[in-house]
Amino acid sequence: MKALLAGASSWVEIDLQALGHNLEAFRTRLAGRARLAAVVKANAYGHGVEVVAPAALAAGADLLAVVSLAEGLSLRRIVGPQVPIVVLGHVPAAGFPAAVEADLELTIYDPDAADALAAAARRVGRAARVHVKIETGTHRQGLAGEALIELARRIAGREELELAGLSTHFADIEDTTDHDFARRQLEAFLAGSREVRALVESAAALDHVACSAAAILFPETHLDMVRVGISLYGLWPSRETLVSARERHLEDFDLQPVLSWKARLAQVKTVPRGAWVGYGRSWRAGRESRIGVVPVGYYEGYDRSLSGRAHVLCHGCRAPVVGRVCMNMFMVDLTDAGSVQAGDEVVLIGASGAERISAEEVAGWAGTIHYEIVSRIHPALPRIPLALSPDRSA
Ligand SMILES: Cc1ncc(COP(=O)(O)O)c(C=O)c1O
Repeated sequence: MKALLAGASSWVEIDLQALGHNLEAFRTRLAGRARLAAVVKANAYGHGVEVVAPAALAAGADLLAVVSLAEGLSLRRIVGPQVPIVVLGHVPAAGFPAAVEADLELTIYDPDAADALAAAARRVGRAARVHVKIETGTHRQGLAGEALIELARRIAGREELELAGLSTHFADIEDTTDHDFARRQLEAFLAGSREVRALVESAAALDHVACSAAAILFPETHLDMVRVGISLYGLWPSRETLVSARERHLEDFDLQPVLSWKARLAQVKTVPRGAWVGYGRSWRAGRESRIGVVPVGYYEGYDRSLSGRAHVLCHGCRAPVVGRVCMNMFMVDLTDAGSVQAGDEVVLIGASGAERISAEEVAGWAGTIHYEIVSRIHPALPRIPLALSPDRSA
């Protein structure tokens, strides 16, 4: 860890014990035979796929899910040839040969894509495993009705294609405590799955619909596999999900945040009363103030909307962000944080002393969701795995 940290002005710490705890929480909750796919797209929701993917597998994940061909190829290099990898997002037909070579399972929702994938599989000389996406009301990816039947027929008619799964994605499961729409989506999915299975030989195909919120709240959505993203990282999908979990008396289901984001102060200076700080002279010192410069900006993923709104932690104290967040740095008012020097640690997300700033809190300041806050932490910042040992010898 020391070598990784040397010279880094900002870094992300990954608590592998917390990751293992969260995975185990889902394992304990999973109904029957359901498998667990760890969703590690978007650089493992910003946590660092190179650190998270092997740790999730070691903690018992059965599959890994990514969003694109590029993510799939790079994950294949990280985890080796044996681990099943599902690509949830769009892969253009030009990428099919590379996907088949790397044994990536693709999500498809277009009969012509099935033909193109079969042709690529023939050329490469190995079967392509596909997951059919069923449209149930999110109106994002997926097919329903006649188009779904046509896709099923094409898959059935191409021996190069193996049906590995059938899936859908809920539109309105995190944002509400009324889950009627999700229930209707589940019914539509089960009907669509039966239609496809009537046409395609599919003994091994997995039905999968559940994201974190569904997996936590509704065992009837677990089916053959769940796809858990945000809560693997110890974050509740939303306040509504937490409320719904309480209503269902799931007090024992507990999640531990995996990520902390830290930096070292680049400079600390005293500015006189009346001095302006930052672009646009957007903050003015009402008293003589100690200003710290944090070497992180919107390029690194600390959103500009946090200007004048957020706090960081320094020596266990909250210090407000003052002035505008710049491309690669922002300023904080450390006047009430005691004796602070350049080189001292500040915590953007995580704990310091008795204080904690959660990704949810940062999202609230930025007017967005915590999914966006963590997934946009720049991939170039080092991800430091914290040791699994109880003393966490960092
Ligand atoms: C298709 C699909 N499945 C599963 C997930 C995981 O959702 P969550 O992070 O809410 O668990 C996502 C996330 O966006 C997704 O797009």
